[in-house]
Amino acid sequence: MKNYLSIHDIDNLTEWVKEAKSLKENPLADKSLGKEKTICLLFFNNSLRTRLSTQKAAMNLGMEVMVMNFGSEGWQLEFEDGAVMDQGKSEHIKEAARVVSQFCDIVAIRAFASLTDKEKDEAEIVLDGFAKYASVPVVNMESSVGHPLQALADAITIEEKNVLQKPKVVLSWAPHPKALPHAVANSFVQMMQLQDADFVITHPKGYELNPNITRGCTIEYDQKKACENADFIYVKNWSSYSDYGKVLKKDKDWMMTQKKLGKAKFMHCLPVRRNVVVADDVLDSDQSLVIEQANNRTYAAQLVLKKILSPLSPKGGIINKIG
Ligand code: CP
Repeated sequence: MKNYLSIHDIDNLTEWVKEAKSLKENPLADKSLGKEKTICLLFFNNSLRTRLSTQKAAMNLGMEVMVMNFGSEGWQLEFEDGAVMDQGKSEHIKEAARVVSQFCDIVAIRAFASLTDKEKDEAEIVLDGFAKYASVPVVNMESSVGHPLQALADAITIEEKNVLQKPKVVLSWAPHPKALPHAVANSFVQMMQLQDADFVITHPKGYELNPNITRGCTIEYDQKKACENADFIYVKNWSSYSDYGKVLKKDKDWMMTQKKLGKAKFMHCLPVRRNVVVADDVLDSDQSLVIEQANNRTYAAQLVLKKILSPLSPKGGIINKIG
């Protein structure tokens, strides 16, 4: 595998989940695979889980890890071809990506949506800029429109907890004081489209996700109805897509409660705001899978890195180098 940029890079989800579960049972089995290889993690935004789980995954494979908070410590990057760089931006992606590639064998990028410019966000200028100009494989640690490492961890978690042939899985919007991106919800939807599940999305009117992503999905605007008899309820806030990046609704009606959850398992990618997104008693109950989801981030990342490293020759002969 060259890059892991989106859920579409998964060729067989069932096989991937099976392999990730096997890595979880024996995380150090491939300790020599990453020997003398380095991963560079570039963060344009904050992180707890992604940063530590991806480092842990790389360490389990014997890799060296370099981490940079690019957003606060790096030069401001220009992405436009032919730009006259006489304003605030000091370095072009063309140089930055090529330079970073000389220091590592894989580069992983976190760069959230701006939520101010839909066109630029959907163009994935940071992630795709690195994918275009880096001479090493690129991994998405949450981009403007997707969080495929999270979705893979979520698939592992559902597989571990599911006992049914076709579970009912609900993705429910929840309130939040700040405008949040669509990436986690988008990737979860795309991952559910690869699963045999009765999948329902519920949110207030005005919070429809990108229709190109939710095409074919069931959307139910009545949250209580959507949650009836659910086996898994994945709760997440996102800002409006049509009124791009806006917070249209803040009241607590849509907060997940024990009553709405019923007997379902509760899922959330974290971080989560208690008693805004979800009530304390849900998070503190045995029905909550959030800690296990976070743990599975390591094995999702480890599987992706293993798949990228596997075709690399042992002596630094990276097959994906561009000219
Ligand atoms: N779920 C997730 O990506 O967590 P972080 O933002 O803390 O990395």
